[in-house]
Amino acid sequence: MAQKISLTRYLVEQQRVDGLIPAQLRLLLEVVARACKSISQAVNKGALGGVLGSADSENVQGEVQKKLDIIANEVLIEANEWGGHLAAMASEEMDAIYVVPNRYPKGEYLLLFDPLDGSSNIDVNVSIGTIFSVLKMPEDDRGVDEGDFLQAGSRQVAAGYCVYGPQTTLVLTVGDGVAMFTLDREQGSFVLTEENVRIPEDTREFAINMSNMRHWDAPVKRYVAECLEGVEGPRGKDFNMRWIASMVADVHRILTRGGIFMYPWDKREPNKPGKLRLMYEANPMAWLVEQAGGAATNGKQRILDIQPSKLHERVSVILGSKNEVERVTSYHSGI
Ligand code: AHG
Ligand code: MN
Ligand code: MN
Repeated sequence: MAQKISLTRYLVEQQRVDGLIPAQLRLLLEVVARACKSISQAVNKGALGGVLGSADSENVQGEVQKKLDIIANEVLIEANEWGGHLAAMASEEMDAIYVVPNRYPKGEYLLLFDPLDGSSNIDVNVSIGTIFSVLKMPEDDRGVDEGDFLQAGSRQVAAGYCVYGPQTTLVLTVGDGVAMFTLDREQGSFVLTEENVRIPEDTREFAINMSNMRHWDAPVKRYVAECLEGVEGPRGKDFNMRWIASMVADVHRILTRGGIFMYPWDKREPNKPGKLRLMYEANPMAWLVEQAGGAATNGKQRILDIQPSKLHERVSVILGSKNEVERVTSYHSGI
């Protein structure tokens, strides 16, 4: 029987054989994985662990926080603050960056996360997840501040997510393709279950919240209308639709069998570029998707090329199977 490869072994080999990841980054990824294991435990307990329902607070985005949003945020901070691998962290659930306290050594990495993605699914027992992105501190920087985080997604050194679904699966890239690890609860470790993940270039499946259709811009309306016309329409084939309302779960499906995911700008809040956050939702997912042969744009430009101007910046997101993403993007330039 083929030997099982744990996440630890995978990372050690990436460090040793390929020289792809320095020791501090390996430690960081191990710690994030450990935090995800602990969040997975909390998610699994559900009502038995008293983790369901809302907390009495709002985050910086004006969203009501769920108990699990706060628990997951705390787990990630507590796991990561003392190891000496980080300079600071940033999270969807914190207004400002969290600088590693002076009592701990500081490292050269910056960690950003959406601790609990898909919060509206927590109480209804549907897949949710954690998304993370790792950047390096700019060289010769003495003190860490928010400005150090404002780097384009193309500068990420690691990115991934953990989906808490029927299985708990950690999906990771360090710029050398995409690997998936399934949590073996008996062993308590993540085991490599998929390497060199590839997204098919074509698809017959799209994911978008259709209830917003009347608010979309013309290019998105055109693309979806053409899909809905099916075999009789200009696309000449029938399409299927999925919308889980957890980006992690929707992206996981796309990495597994292809598809296109869209959360475009819409005129409900015309001054915001979109709903999803650039730095800890769109960037890590865009890099994973590109690493698996897919594409990710905001309709006009590659997501990974966007220069962020603030930590909680939002962005329009179109990602997944390459040919479909290119089609929607071309509709935005009037082709
Ligand atoms: P979060 O729970 O971290 O705020 O993110 C939810 C996001 C994303 O995961 C999902 O694709 C989208 O919001 C769902 O939005 P709608 O409820 O508007 O469909
Ligand atoms: Mn989210
Ligand atoms: Mn969240």
